[in-house]
Amino acid sequence: MYTFSNRVAQLRPSAIREKMKLMSKPGAISFAQGNPSPETLPYEVLQEISAQLFRDNPASFLQYGLTEGYAPLRELLTERMQVRFGCGKEFDELIIVSGAQQGIELACKLFCNEGDAIVCENPSFIGSLNAFRSYNTKLLGVDVEPDGMNMEQLERQLSSHGNIKMIYTIPNFQNPTGVTMSLEKRKQLYELAVRYNILILEDNPYGEVRFSGEELPNIKSLDTEGLVIYVGSFSKVLSAGIRVGYVLAPLDIAQKMTVLKQSADVHTNLFAQMLADSFMRNYDYDSHITRLQQIYGRKCALMLKCLRESFWDSISFNEPEGGLFIWCTLKDGLSMEEFSRRAAEAGVSFIAGNMLALSPEDCRDSFRLNFSTPSDVQIVEGVAKLADALNPVKN
Ligand SMILES: Cc1ncc(COP(=O)(O)O)c(C=O)c1O
Repeated sequence: MYTFSNRVAQLRPSAIREKMKLMSKPGAISFAQGNPSPETLPYEVLQEISAQLFRDNPASFLQYGLTEGYAPLRELLTERMQVRFGCGKEFDELIIVSGAQQGIELACKLFCNEGDAIVCENPSFIGSLNAFRSYNTKLLGVDVEPDGMNMEQLERQLSSHGNIKMIYTIPNFQNPTGVTMSLEKRKQLYELAVRYNILILEDNPYGEVRFSGEELPNIKSLDTEGLVIYVGSFSKVLSAGIRVGYVLAPLDIAQKMTVLKQSADVHTNLFAQMLADSFMRNYDYDSHITRLQQIYGRKCALMLKCLRESFWDSISFNEPEGGLFIWCTLKDGLSMEEFSRRAAEAGVSFIAGNMLALSPEDCRDSFRLNFSTPSDVQIVEGVAKLADALNPVKN
């Protein structure tokens, strides 16, 4: 027999993976995943680039590469972060990682000893929460309001715990709530981080997936003191399967992270990095992003319309300005358990809010709907089935 290490004792199985098992029935509709829409994937261009890479210089990606990443892609992203987003000071360095997930995990590994604390939005991205849990950290939750973290709670957490190593935030179109942090709160958050001398881990995979409202500065752009570790990704804007992300952080942090990365996976897949590099350099990246924003804007509006028509008095939900998710909350007195069960029987899945919360006791009346993966027809049919599933629950 065997005993698992202490690091994995507090891990919970992925709700999404569990749902995927249930949803293998034919005709099932999944609002559970967070995959980019297949419509946004630039198949033909990527096929063309791949052929060219194999034709021109296959030895360049069939060999080992540098752990910190493919130099031309690092340069391109460093410049884009600076020119387009005002992020990156002299003291910062950008490295390539195998998806934002790796950057988040390495940041935790770099700073957290067992028992150290990380402040997180509650609810938050399950992949990060599980990465933090796997280092036996203590997660301190802060509620998410319509304009981002509750700043009073944040300050209370910072002032009452001595071993907080970082504040983890997803300021744009947060997963799972879809909430965007206001500019005022971004500034307050940064000021608090400076006052308490605590790092911010800014996770921004959805930043460019904005389809309404005004763009807001990233917290990293406010970083005069070298306290922000910024994590970006190609997953939601080019392809999730290529597993290319990046970290922009003060040089000593980036260097130490590179050493950790070396022992994790040596380097990010070089072919995938070159694919992303060539796509950005040789094709119209900005038009690609605009097209993707239009697709997500349309799909989100469709789901919101269906929700408004079907659920007018049973649930409340927000209207995200970007990202992939709508966060819904059942009105008082409705049973989430029964609703979930009936929805599953009708072949529609979503993620229950408490699976994404810091404790299974939190967010019990909420659930997350994804609008990027299902087709338009599935959005219409799936929301109608959800409304039916809720009807007997109401009575
Ligand atoms: C908030 C958030 N951060 C990070 C990730 C992981 O992104 P990547 O595919 O780049 O590892 C996701 C993926 O869904 C996410 O929602």
